[in-house]
Amino acid sequence: MGSCPRDLCVDGKTATIPERYIRRDQDPTIVVDAPSLPEIPVIDFAKLKAHEESPELQRLHAACKDWGFFQLVNHRMSPSLMEAIKRGTVELFDLPEEERSRYEQKVGEMEGFGRTFVVSDDQKLDWADVFHLYTLPRSLRKPHLFSELPLPYRDDLDAYSEETKKLAVELLRLMGKALGMDSREVSELFEEGIQGMRMNYYPPCPQPELVIGLSSHSDADAITILHQVNETEGLQIQKDGVWIPVRPLPGAFIINVGDIVEMVTNGIYRSINHRATVNTTRERVTVASFYSPRMEAVIGPAPSLVTADNPAQFRRITVAEHLNGYLTSELKGKAYLDSMR
Ligand code: SIN
Ligand code: FE2
Repeated sequence: MGSCPRDLCVDGKTATIPERYIRRDQDPTIVVDAPSLPEIPVIDFAKLKAHEESPELQRLHAACKDWGFFQLVNHRMSPSLMEAIKRGTVELFDLPEEERSRYEQKVGEMEGFGRTFVVSDDQKLDWADVFHLYTLPRSLRKPHLFSELPLPYRDDLDAYSEETKKLAVELLRLMGKALGMDSREVSELFEEGIQGMRMNYYPPCPQPELVIGLSSHSDADAITILHQVNETEGLQIQKDGVWIPVRPLPGAFIINVGDIVEMVTNGIYRSINHRATVNTTRERVTVASFYSPRMEAVIGPAPSLVTADNPAQFRRITVAEHLNGYLTSELKGKAYLDSMR
């Protein structure tokens, strides 16, 4: 597998950046942090729950339609659980080499420490260490990964996966309501889904303008809940051709619409391109929870959202085929979603 970016840094310094990390293909120019750049919307979960017909539901609708991204405040996740996930994830990436190797990806598998979306030996690499695993339903958990995680992280992750699933299902229900979808259609598709998580560790880089932490992509799932574990910024989203930095609010989740929601809503809600950049001095750690319908579910435009004015834009496919196709491809903006048209 070769060295991971962290191993290339000694005391935060890298003599030369190996050619495979130099990303002329990504134009990893850091966006000038101009005060005039717009910010992604902020949605208040408590307001959504207090009055479901409230203007907040319309704000959620606009955020999913116009941005595909928003920050969620007052989401009710316990701060102590968020703190435990933060601590445990940082410790996971700090494990000594011999412990880490227990969780290394096996040949042909995606879960564990390792690389994802690398399909050839000459493909460029992202400046990040990642740990990927399926978390729900429990039957998808690999015995050599989840059950072997150090305690108390394993138990915290178990609780966190349940809580993020609940939040994902609730947000999907509210989106369906905002769109006027049949509530049975929404619950059948989304209530008993699957969840994967990716823990991302982005080490500092002496020449951040030459590398990219995570290549530009849209997420394959229905909805992603990102826990930005430390204060370091780095996530950027592409809106109207411009890369906009996301400035995380303390304690908020960053939520984005994934490809499955774009497909099901027949393009009304948008799964948009985003990427992670790195910086010279500070490491960055994030935990992304990806929620999708169960593997056998068939996804495609919901009948209630296909109209004469908006004919079906996507073909129908099972979640298993969709995720398998995505996870065995290179991350390339919205290329994968476009192949579903
Ligand atoms: C992701 O796109 O899945 C993670 C982005 C981030 O780490 O900010
Ligand atoms: Fe993503």
